[in-house]
Amino acid sequence: MLVLGVETTCDETAAAVVERLPDGSARILSNIVRSQTEEHAPYGGVVPEIAARAHVELLDGLIARAMTESGVGFQQLSGVAAAAGPGLIGGVIVGLTTAKAIALVHGTPLIAVNHLEAHALTPRLTSRLEFPYCLFLASGGHTQIVAVLGVGDYVRLGTTVDDAMGEAFDKVAKMLGLPYPGGPQVERAAASGDATRFNFPRPMLGRPDANFSLSGLKTAVRNEAARIDPLEPRDISDLCAGFQAAVLEATADRLGVGLRLFQERFGMPRALVAAGGVAANQAIRASLEGIAARARTTLIIPPPALCTDNGAMIAWAGAERLATGLTDSLETPPRARWLLDAKAQAPAGFANTRAGF
Ligand code: KG4
Ligand code: ZN
Repeated sequence: MLVLGVETTCDETAAAVVERLPDGSARILSNIVRSQTEEHAPYGGVVPEIAARAHVELLDGLIARAMTESGVGFQQLSGVAAAAGPGLIGGVIVGLTTAKAIALVHGTPLIAVNHLEAHALTPRLTSRLEFPYCLFLASGGHTQIVAVLGVGDYVRLGTTVDDAMGEAFDKVAKMLGLPYPGGPQVERAAASGDATRFNFPRPMLGRPDANFSLSGLKTAVRNEAARIDPLEPRDISDLCAGFQAAVLEATADRLGVGLRLFQERFGMPRALVAAGGVAANQAIRASLEGIAARARTTLIIPPPALCTDNGAMIAWAGAERLATGLTDSLETPPRARWLLDAKAQAPAGFANTRAGF
């Protein structure tokens, strides 16, 4: 089974061809990602209009390259998959419409993939992993704990009630004058900082649900920074170290609860899986090792290039859906919001206006 995957939901334009073998294993034949970081950097964050325009300009060329590199012709494709949401609607329209055009011209099935589902299924692209498993997804737009029970079968166990974790890293970086994207900058500054100098709050600690809250912590960092102003490099490192330590402790606590809820409802997970850009953070990766060990499960973190947004994860999710007979009509709409778990309710105190709580 050969599937072309297209990703345009945020600020990465990406196309890939993935082969799914009859035994369920996978081969990535091409995987091309063009990040728009430079286009958005002057504004300190992703500008939806600029992203949509860049996707329009870049996508055709990327798909052509992905096809050429894979050595696969359009006629040989078993399906064309596009991320149909959740995400910035302009970009989603570009990717989904392009995929529909290819599907129509070549008479190939279309698979409209939920971007979160693609993150959720990525570990099965890189490892021989059976269901069920527990996903911790932490990116610029999402912070979720999800029970992955099967293709198309997901139960959300926890989510953020306000900022996403990557978003909190980015905002802290911005308020300290560090460049965008802020996550790696905060991690670097934290490495030489004193995490004990500031006593930042550990939001939601000890709560029986598995939800996250990060905006109070972010505000606490802002208040300290304003009190110290002007900031010396030492202050920036200490603020970053204190912030990151609070995030680590909150993550350990929230994931501990999430894994317990998972076991109560679905038995032992086959693994704890991390995905999303924040999973590139070395301190978080180290902390996840301990969390998985305490829950007596294994930790799987796909390689960084497959943790962040890419086309291979969309192609793979398309192949997994196609293998279970799922395809979509050419009428399928693009969606800014699209819950992975359709039964999930907004948690109490929910104040996140971004896609796909
Ligand atoms: O998954 P991703 O590439 O894109 C989406 O948001 O969908 O995640 C990007 C996010 C950004 O907020 C970025 O600051 C954060 O992941 N990030 C990190 C690190 N690397 C990327 N956060 C903390 N530490 C890092 N090393
Ligand atoms: Zn993503």
